[in-house]
Amino acid sequence: MFKGKEYYHPSGRNWASSIDGMYNLIRNNRIMSTGKNLAYVLYLDDFPVIPITNIWMDLLLRTEKIYVVQTADKVISRCMLMTTDPGDLVLDITCGSGTTAYVAEQWGRRWITCDTSRVAIALAKKRLMTATYDYYKLAHEEQGVASGFVYKTVPHITLKSIANNEPPDTGTLYDQPEVDKTKIRITGPFTVEALPAPVGVSDVHPLDTVSDLDGTSTKQTDWRDELLATGIRGRGGAKIEFSRVEPLSGTKYLQAEAETKEDAPRRAVICFGSETKPLDSRLVAMALDEVENLRPKPKLVVFAAFQFDPEAAKDIDETNWPDLTLLKVQMNTDLMTEDLKKKRSSNESFWLVGQPDAELIFIDKGKDKGKYYVRVNGFDYYDVKKGTVESGNVNRIAMWMLDTNYDGLSIEPMQVFFPMGGSDGGWGKLAKTLRAEINQELIEKYAGNQSLPFAVESNTQIAVKIIDDRGIESLKVIKVGEL
Ligand SMILES: C[S@@+](CC[C@H](N)C(=O)[O-])C[C@H]1O[C@@H](n2cnc3c(N)ncnc32)[C@H](O)[C@@H]1O
Repeated sequence: MFKGKEYYHPSGRNWASSIDGMYNLIRNNRIMSTGKNLAYVLYLDDFPVIPITNIWMDLLLRTEKIYVVQTADKVISRCMLMTTDPGDLVLDITCGSGTTAYVAEQWGRRWITCDTSRVAIALAKKRLMTATYDYYKLAHEEQGVASGFVYKTVPHITLKSIANNEPPDTGTLYDQPEVDKTKIRITGPFTVEALPAPVGVSDVHPLDTVSDLDGTSTKQTDWRDELLATGIRGRGGAKIEFSRVEPLSGTKYLQAEAETKEDAPRRAVICFGSETKPLDSRLVAMALDEVENLRPKPKLVVFAAFQFDPEAAKDIDETNWPDLTLLKVQMNTDLMTEDLKKKRSSNESFWLVGQPDAELIFIDKGKDKGKYYVRVNGFDYYDVKKGTVESGNVNRIAMWMLDTNYDGLSIEPMQVFFPMGGSDGGWGKLAKTLRAEINQELIEKYAGNQSLPFAVESNTQIAVKIIDDRGIESLKVIKVGEL
């Protein structure tokens, strides 16, 4: 009987609760009549969340992108929360703009990520260095992040719990940690490693590039043809053009020779880097050994590559032989792809890469007297028309960093600058969030081309690494003698 009327359970089914349970439900106003039948009453607040299914319509958001194939943060967050706990290690082998690392930092996971593209790595570095995150309360402060966070919970009232007079279950919302508004976090320390080229296999080419028995690459034939057709682009539309570009025999690391189209033609030799790894210092050294033995002597050595190892770029920049000009030439990645090459409309297949122009300056007065600072003047470009190297400007520098005590192996940046972001981008973004704690004047300096003053010791090396807006990295090492 319910409210004076007799009801029967549907045929073939029993009531979902025992008789006692039914009376409990009635006492709690959780039973109603739908005419011939009885129904249970459930409120939205009984379990005020909606389980996530495998269709994530709620994540179809448009987000601001810094990388054309950037994944939405929320998608990665959800995957990470489903599969890991705070303190776990997450690996993303296709870093891109670093969304996985960013989200891992946000959720207290450790991370490793990698990418073949220097542009991606540069973007990810900046994104991580300038990010801020909420501070989530820790479950056990003394045990650190691996103890988990304090999460929001919701009651999970079920008919069973009411019928049996049991306290309701609690649901934990793992995507809603409690935020301590008095604190803010930044990305923890991280390192950026580059894989050195494997020693001893420098001659290995992917199979599809090898055409004949002497190992000549068909791609290299294309590259030579392209070099002859388009020349090398320099600053302001200037060009180095060639009247011929031919294979060079008797050498291993210099694969081609050429003659410039000039009133007094110059002989050039060309060392092409590999398609699969950056042109490294060993290749530079071996090519230069071959140059020494060549007769007649070339006037130009062209190192053409899709990527330069920064050390190799430095070696090329610093080699100063009489009567010989060494050039670094960036190859357009379209040259890796046959179809793209044919369809390509521009003729920018090869262009000159600038040298970093950075100087160490002694401070002889004021409060920093006796210290030094570094000024980056931009990249130097080889001026094809004048045949001289001209200084570029700092507008194209996405990032530069300074190691004031370089060990010759790895850069440990003491100061990092983001000139292209201006004072609003780069560190400025971080400063906005951390306004109270950050000196605005310093933030502006970190968007410029001059370092902060620093002390220098005798017989040390100062390294300046510059990354331009195309992701091209260059390294300038300034040796300090006895002071
Ligand atoms: C779709 S994007 C990743 C986007 C990233 N999730 C984000 O949010 O920015 C793929 C990335 O994989 C990189 N990549 C392609 N082949 C690779 C390889 N063999 N090893 C490592 N990274 C690679 C590309 O350079 C590109 O940055």
